[in-house]
This record gives sequence, structure tokens and C-alpha cells, in this order.
Amino acid sequence: MPLLAPPVKRNRSFPMPHPAADHAVQPLSARKSGPLKGIAVVPGDKSISQRALILGGMALGETRISGLLESEDVLNTAKAVRALGAEVTRDGEGLWRVTGYGGWRQPEGVLDFGNSGTGSRLMMGAVATTPIRATFTGDASLRSRPMARVLDPLTPFGTRYEGQGPKALMPVTVIGAANAPAICCDVAVASAQVKSALLLAALKAEGTSRISQHALTRDHTEKMLAAFGADIQVQTSADGETICVRGPAHLKACSVDVPRDPSSAAFPLAAALIVPGSEISIPAILLNPRRIGLIETLLEMGADIQIRNRRSSGGEEIGDLWVRHAPLKGVVVPADRAPSMIDEYPILAVIAAFAQGETVMQGLEELRVKESDRLSAIARGLQVNGVAVREAADGLTVTGAREIPGGGTVVTHMDHRIAMSFLTLGMASRAPVTVDDIAMIATSFPSYQDLMQGLGAEFARPKS
Ligand code: S3P
Repeated sequence: MPLLAPPVKRNRSFPMPHPAADHAVQPLSARKSGPLKGIAVVPGDKSISQRALILGGMALGETRISGLLESEDVLNTAKAVRALGAEVTRDGEGLWRVTGYGGWRQPEGVLDFGNSGTGSRLMMGAVATTPIRATFTGDASLRSRPMARVLDPLTPFGTRYEGQGPKALMPVTVIGAANAPAICCDVAVASAQVKSALLLAALKAEGTSRISQHALTRDHTEKMLAAFGADIQVQTSADGETICVRGPAHLKACSVDVPRDPSSAAFPLAAALIVPGSEISIPAILLNPRRIGLIETLLEMGADIQIRNRRSSGGEEIGDLWVRHAPLKGVVVPADRAPSMIDEYPILAVIAAFAQGETVMQGLEELRVKESDRLSAIARGLQVNGVAVREAADGLTVTGAREIPGGGTVVTHMDHRIAMSFLTLGMASRAPVTVDDIAMIATSFPSYQDLMQGLGAEFARPKS
């Protein structure tokens, strides 16, 4: 089996993401709409799409992927996988093939991951135990995010890196280790990205690595590694979980069916909950127990959500969501639920603005290191639209009201989820809500605007 792939073939058969610098700033307003009705077909899950490409690139043979999310973050990962020696081909909408050679080759240029923390951090782990040098960069948002949280735990493998300052900001060069030993690591932060980077690095180490984490973060890497033939065992206890991976592993290509993304579904779901008279369905959504904290919370708030036709697809549980507008009440969202809804706090905060009483969200320190400092971006966005909110170091309290004034302009800080969340606020506020830039929505949900308009949402370009 070749350890390093043959020279890269210049396969241009997939759409290329725009470098972030090419984006013109695009403000957009959303105004109060009539009842939202219809079927919201959201795209494939971002986490699983990213992993399908990376694992396909590490495996030997042809991995066939259906339902791949074709957003900028994922396209940037596809480009990196190709630069590292795998062949990546798009056969049709969401249908992709990755031919891997069982290992990475030295990339020629810099790997530009655009806005994607997940793509870049997982790939840092994936190359950490292959003796190559790879330089990672990204857009202004990604360049401000700490990479040391992933790179420092990789150093016991013998991986070295050169980054900017103590947080190892990008551009970062990762110098992969030859003959890496297996390691034991307790992952201190509640991050699936860090856990996954370690698991991917462990694949090429000698012996069994043990990776523990107190928080039960999303487990897509573990499940997918098993499907790709890795020797992986997961033990869960009251203290969290320990994952054992035996290396060196020889991953075998397989088929991946990507389920639809619950984090994208959250936006039409939220809009239907807060716009009076709405009733929509959202088919075939991933219902992995570590991803459905938002649904759990909304049901506690009194939301009218039904999960129908639960079934399994590609090793994951999926189901159809049916959602109807109903009065909501504030709740306390405990810190231990944060990992299962970590990307959903911006939209939950918007929903909470329409609930009766206070919604208290705890244990949110990780939100400070997302695509933006989301705690502060959410608090500012709510304040400028007349919503009562208190921001703590690691939490947020939103006081709901019968009517939200709206009328404010929200600074999105290059954060797709802040943009979509505050457009949702505008759909049920008295005056339109403007977000300063929607360009980043394409990183995760390129069809967002069309999909929401199809349900009845009303957007307009603000006059400059
Ligand atoms: C992701 C993990 C989460 C999440 C991100 C996707 C993943 O990040 O916010 O959108 O696919 O592993 P953290 O691991 O930093 O919490």
C-alpha cells in the first residue's frame, strides 16, 4: 500500500469557493412576514460532510458521498483534501467521490480554509502524524481563532507547529511527526473539533491512543471511523467518555450518506415558532442525540414540534420535523446541555426574545471562540433591536416580550449563524432587522435565502 499519494491530478470538476477577500459586503433586512408555510428541505450536515471528505482522503480506495453539503466551508476542505494528494470529483448535486491513497502527500501551496474552524482543525489532526509540512490559513475570522487548543494537545505525538503568538493564530505551519507514539490525552475543553483532531492523529501513531473528554460532544468522527474500518472503542461513564483508537490504522473507503443538518434546520424551525400562524415541515433531519439539545429545549419551552417517521440512515437516526407556531415560555438551559446545541444559542436567544419570562443559558464559555465572540454578538444584536438581555462571562439571560421593536442593524462579525439568527428576529419584529453582511451564510447554508423566501419570509436590500 503506498503511504504517500501520487502527484496531484489537477481535477477542476468541482465548484471552487470564493476566497473571503472576494466577498463584497452584502447587507440584508428581514421584515415581519405573514405565516410561514411549506416544506423546508435543508442541506446536508456540515460536520459529517467535512469528515466524509477528510476520512475519504485518508482511506485507501474510492469513497462515495451522497448529500454532501456544498457550502464554502466544505468546498474549502475538498480543496485541501485534493492538495494533500487525494482525488476529489463531483458527479452531481451532493454526489462526490474521494479516491484516497491511504496517506497524505506534501501539499504544494498554503491550505486556505476560509471561514472554517472545523475543516482546518480536523485537518491539523489528520496531518499531524504524517511527516509533511502543511501551512494553514483562513479569512479574518478564522485567523483570529485560537489554534493552540488543537495544536498543543497534538504535540505528544511528536507534532510540531509554528503559529502566530501564544494562541497559535493562523497562518500556522504543522510539521507532522514520523513514527508517532500512541498517546493518552484528557481533552480539557468541551470541543468535538479538538477531540476529533486527536482521534485522526492517533490513526497513524504506533499503538493504542486513549482520548478522554468530560463533555459528551458530537460523536461523528467516532462513528465514521468505525464505518471506515478503524479499530475504535468508546467507553462512556458518569465522568464522560474515553475513546481508544489503535494505530497504525488502514482506513478502507466506504459510502457515506450525509443526513440533513439540524443546525441549519434550526433557522426555518425558529422562524415557524415565532411567526404567528406558521406551520412547516422539515424532512429527514439528523437526530443524533448529541445534536438535538435545541429541540429538547424548545419542547421544554412549550414549542409545538413533532418528530415523525423516525428512521435510520447512514448509521444515524433521522426524522421529519413538523413545527407550528405556539406561545413559548422561558426556561433554564443547563450547562451540561451546551455540547448538544453549541451552534444553536444564537437562534435560541432570538426565540427566547418572544417567550414569556426569562430564558437563562448557562455554560457558554465556548461561544467566545466561535466564528465570532457569539456571546457578545448575540447580546449586542438583541440590544439594538430592543430586547432585554444580560451577558455574563459564560452565559446569557434573555427576557421575552409580546412585541419586539426591531429596527436595528446587527454587526455579524463574519459569522453566518449571527446573520441567519438576526434575520429570523426581523421576521417577527415590529420594524425590519438589518444584518450588516450576509456573505458568510454561504459557508454553511447557501440556499438559506431562497428556502426562507419559499416559506414566505420577506427580505429586502437596505437602502444605503
Ligand atoms: C463541530 C464542532 C463544534 C461546532 C462546529 C462543528 C464539529 O465546534 O461549533 O460548528 O464538526 O466538530 P467545537 O468543537 O469547537 O465546539
